[in-house]
Amino acid sequence: MKEILEQPGFLASSGTMGADVSYLLALVFTLLFLVAWRFAKKSEGTKHHKLILVSMVSMVIYFVAYYYARQLGVLSFEGKEGFGGPQEVYDNVFIPTLTTHLVLVTLGLIMAFYMLIEGFRASEKVNGEYALKAGDLKVSAKTFKIVMLTIIALWGVNQIFLTAVRHASMGVSIAWALIFGTVALVVSIEKGIEKLLPDGARRHRILGRGTMIIFGLILITSTATYLMLYVIYPVK
Ligand code: HEM
Repeated sequence: MKEILEQPGFLASSGTMGADVSYLLALVFTLLFLVAWRFAKKSEGTKHHKLILVSMVSMVIYFVAYYYARQLGVLSFEGKEGFGGPQEVYDNVFIPTLTTHLVLVTLGLIMAFYMLIEGFRASEKVNGEYALKAGDLKVSAKTFKIVMLTIIALWGVNQIFLTAVRHASMGVSIAWALIFGTVALVVSIEKGIEKLLPDGARRHRILGRGTMIIFGLILITSTATYLMLYVIYPVK
């Protein structure tokens, strides 16, 4: 697998197969999200909802594949070896772009999962078509407690599995604790969001547009990173 990914790519003369495939996939799923936005704008709630699900699944597959295949190999973060341009461009343009990209990807992933659940909660089926329902959308204290306890229980079960079966390192346990912690944090933040934007439909539109803008920016920053690494400043 590693050998295939290190073969020359097909997009730019210095790109590798791994870089080209992952860039193309990122391009495809981001565009799918933006098309889903168009459907929502045209009030085609069901098409919007279906395409969002397809985009989410492809995005998750992409991330898992990317992680395993390239070991999060943003090689240029480990040092300047992967970047063939001048030091000033590396420090002042490349690293800020890449950092912005990684921050946006993290934010975009969290928001996409949040919006997916909010979308189901905030909409109803009217004559077979999904439509947002107006009115306050709140998590009851009881549901909130159940959700939090479920997250803690899942974390506990996963931790036992990691320690007893996989004999995972401390780093792996910390990474999982951070993932479960982020989920718990998002659920807690929901309480604050409910106060700021009580109407579920309005919340979906405002936060949904924010999420779509993040996806647009991810597309721009990933294109810029790709161009700098493999087209403008490839390693000679
Ligand atoms: C990542 C997840 C999602 C994002 C980013 C998102 C984003 C958006 C945005 C931006 C709009 C408003 C469009 C505009 O006026 O500019 C919207 C509307 C809508 N969304 Fe979502 N959405 C997501 C998931 C869902 C899900 C899972 C459902 C249903 C189960 C859903 C149902 C709807 C409906 C019914 C509308 C209203 C369309 C209309 O105006 O008739 N969304 N969404």
